[in-house]
Amino acid sequence: MTTEADPSRPGGDPASPEARRALELRAEITEHNRRYHQLDAPTVSDAEYDELVRELRAIEAAHPELVEADTPTGLVGAAPSATFAPVRHRVPMMSLDNAFSPEELAAWGERLERRLAEEPGERNGFACELKIDGVAISLRYEDGRLVQGATRGDGQTGEDVTANVATIADIPTELPPGAPRVLEVRGEVYMSRTAFEALQVTQQEENRVRLEAGRKPHPVASNPRNAAAGSLRQKDAAITARRELSMWCYQLGEVEGGPAFTSHVETLAQLRGWGFAVNPEHRLVDTAAEVAEFCARWQEHRHDLPYEIDGAVVKVDHLERREKLGSTARAPRWAIAYKFPPEERTTTLLGIEVSVGRTGRVTPFAVLEPVFVGGVTVSRATLHNEDQVRIKDVRVGDTVIVRRAGDVIPEVVGPVDPQDPDHLARPVWAFPRTCPSNRPVELVRPEGESDTRCPDPECPFQVAGAIEHFAGRGALDIEGFGSQRIRLLLDLGLLADVAGIFEIPWDRLAELRAEVGAWATAATAAAQERTGDPRARLDAVAEVDLARTRPADPAALSTDLVADLAADPALFKSTADGLRGLGDEAVAGLRAAIEGAKERPLANLLVGLNVRHLGPSGAQALALAFGDLGHIVEADVGAMATADGVGTVIAESVRAWFDDPDHRALVDRLVAAGVNTEGPEESSEPQVLLGKVIVVTGTLEGYTRDEAEAAITSRGGTSPGSVSKKTTAVVVGASPGASKVTKAESLGVPILDQAAFERLLETGELPG
Ligand code: IVH
Repeated sequence: MTTEADPSRPGGDPASPEARRALELRAEITEHNRRYHQLDAPTVSDAEYDELVRELRAIEAAHPELVEADTPTGLVGAAPSATFAPVRHRVPMMSLDNAFSPEELAAWGERLERRLAEEPGERNGFACELKIDGVAISLRYEDGRLVQGATRGDGQTGEDVTANVATIADIPTELPPGAPRVLEVRGEVYMSRTAFEALQVTQQEENRVRLEAGRKPHPVASNPRNAAAGSLRQKDAAITARRELSMWCYQLGEVEGGPAFTSHVETLAQLRGWGFAVNPEHRLVDTAAEVAEFCARWQEHRHDLPYEIDGAVVKVDHLERREKLGSTARAPRWAIAYKFPPEERTTTLLGIEVSVGRTGRVTPFAVLEPVFVGGVTVSRATLHNEDQVRIKDVRVGDTVIVRRAGDVIPEVVGPVDPQDPDHLARPVWAFPRTCPSNRPVELVRPEGESDTRCPDPECPFQVAGAIEHFAGRGALDIEGFGSQRIRLLLDLGLLADVAGIFEIPWDRLAELRAEVGAWATAATAAAQERTGDPRARLDAVAEVDLARTRPADPAALSTDLVADLAADPALFKSTADGLRGLGDEAVAGLRAAIEGAKERPLANLLVGLNVRHLGPSGAQALALAFGDLGHIVEADVGAMATADGVGTVIAESVRAWFDDPDHRALVDRLVAAGVNTEGPEESSEPQVLLGKVIVVTGTLEGYTRDEAEAAITSRGGTSPGSVSKKTTAVVVGASPGASKVTKAESLGVPILDQAAFERLLETGELPG
């Protein structure tokens, strides 16, 4: 017997790497199909699934001899499960081919033209639709009555879910007179975002109760699609009825009698006439360019919809042309799904850590193997609080689903497979008992609250967070005073609280810069010698004994700091780098920014103080009502609570804050430093800029920088120091900051010259 494979055998050479990979891929895809379609519990994201299918397709295209009759690339979905009675589709329910880029979409259009080889004419229409992220369903009506609802299953045989679909409000159970004797309508059952959020709240609340009773949490629906699928495939239709499902219809199946159709969009209009929900966002367009535009527009605006879509579907409108084009075993040639980039991916959970915020709240977050999702690389994602980690039941080492939808912060949805024995064997994460800072104070979680807190007022993380907040956008907005510099000054002992910003010993900073600079030079030289690499830089100082490279007598450095720096090459590098960035020019800029911050409105100062519950609108209300910081400091709760938009919760919190002698001492230092303590006078200007965010850069004729800002704020607008997505317009004067202009351009924020600025002040309107 020979062990050699026979390449001429059907199935090709089974020992070739391609054959083995194809086999592997088929097994994997078949399993994913089963999990997705039968169990409603997929263990990979759609994007990963698509990648597997594409890989298998590529192998099969290059090696047709490897194609097997039952390859999943030629199949639709998975065979139905045994829970529901099987339903044979008289007209098969097909799937769609995918285009993952504008180029693939264009190539599909070109293929069509070649196949049809017809004169360009008026029949060349495309129906563009949204690709609803839900579950494909077929509805069968006989003599005007709903007789059957079925899932797609493997495209030939689906599952009977009649009782379940009958509970969905969008689905008519009777048709008006004139409808065909037999009518099969297909579409997508989905769950709206609000219904999904409500379901999540209910499921989480149930789990919270379970956890409190010492029971294990139930798995919660991870996204609206899985929630829709799970809700639809309930044995007890009463549960489906409680789940608020909806349906968009987009296709006909079997039809007997009734009007004859020639165009898809006309069919949709008729379906609407018979009482079906047809998505209003479909368009009939003529050209490939318009198709591309439709797809691009919805890719950008997908989050503006109250339900989820994962792409667009483009269909040849004329039904006769569809006939000509025909289908492959799996999908019609006359339609294509244009898939948006994925918003969910799977990755490995490398660790769970906690961070301490400025208010002392301790938030767990996931450290992830970096993954590209929703347009950015994500390596961290919040886990919110202790209960969330337990409810999501994510454990270090798990493969988890990461989601980033639009501008929403990335989140870990949960493990891909909560039943996986490897997952179950991993230890359940325990919240740390002490603060992760170098002051290991015991953390507290008050009874009945979901947040854990660090009660230490001197906690270095809280101090750093409070200073960042004070110097940040919504407060004193000190340009160039970000988290890295703040940390540097804290580490160097040059800053300890927010008032300290105005008391920074700049001379000492210059001394430290010189000392650490000399040390860094010596350490770098030693590292170059040690590694034999004359280009070695600060990164290489880990190679040397830092204590030994220290210049003889670093008079300006405290013994503690020397010890800290010598023991920690990463800290040494960041300190040396940070100080190098604080040369004379940078310091002058920073000092000017700090000086300028003293002029910020009283409301910004109040926000900066980091008083619990006091946000921008409450601070604005207090500033307006009392007009002076001194009056607020003295006001009682009753007086404060009468200010518009300030309730007793805020008033009590503000009162308690000012009652703390340490806080009073801090305020005294701020006042001594010369910060503005007076509130705005009631403005006599028309409030034409309410809600508008106008950034000014460069010099404007007839206005100092402060006057330009005041002109904006007195009309109800705000004028922060930097450009962001929230910026309404950027006013550019002479010698503007290049980065602001570039940023405005890249974000598509309108740029105004002096004349346009003056019109804006008068009318509140942007040009053109
Ligand atoms: S038409 C033969 N139109 O996407 C063509 N499908 O990935 C049948 N889908 O199986 C499908 N929105 O479940 C069509 N506007 C739409 C759709 C849509 C979502 C789903 C459907 C289909 C799957 C293919």
